[in-house]
Amino acid sequence: MKFFVDTADIDAIRELNDLGMVDGVTTNPSLIHKSGRDFKEVTREIADMVDGPVSAEVVALDADTMLAEGRHLAEIAPNVCVKVPLTWAGLKTCKTLTDAGTQVNVTLCFSVNQALLAAKAGATYVSPFIGRLDDLNLDGMELIREIREVYDNFAFDTRILSASIRTVNHMKEAALAGSDVATAPPGVIRKMADHPLTDAGLQAFLKDWESTGQKIL
Ligand code: E4P
Repeated sequence: MKFFVDTADIDAIRELNDLGMVDGVTTNPSLIHKSGRDFKEVTREIADMVDGPVSAEVVALDADTMLAEGRHLAEIAPNVCVKVPLTWAGLKTCKTLTDAGTQVNVTLCFSVNQALLAAKAGATYVSPFIGRLDDLNLDGMELIREIREVYDNFAFDTRILSASIRTVNHMKEAALAGSDVATAPPGVIRKMADHPLTDAGLQAFLKDWESTGQKIL
């Protein structure tokens, strides 16, 4: 499973990228707002740093303006992936952009039917939102499993990009469900390294090492 980092925080992306943990980046208008940065400037900076796709989201609601925005965003860098909402206008924009060779991430997907439409419109990625479904007492991960099954049934090329990831369990479950990509906040990716038995084992090793009186350096 590929790891995308879900942030517009340059320092956090750089740290994970230097560790080889970043296969791509996703942003959205809320994350741009949180960064306090100029949208195009920060998108260019991220795209220059990262080898993989960097999702940048349109904000228009009608297809014509959305398409114009998408073309504009795609000019920022060759690895910009235009993010469009899963609306009828978004699907139209997706079809036109992907036909022209631009990568498109169709976002705000909450059902298998929506994911089917995204695939039919030639989406490069579809982003089902796990956490926001879980917030409503629905099963976000079940959606990932179902989309995987449907896409495999018909050999669709669209990649499943699990989004709205809130916990390390979401990462494990997305991988088990066969998600192609998971996009997670930097903190969730860092937490994947944590285990209390690792900490306890380390403490015990260090205590015994101290008793030997030896030094490595
Ligand atoms: C990424 O593409 C999505 O915009 C993001 O994962 C949404 O996450 P949230 O539901 O935590 O805002």
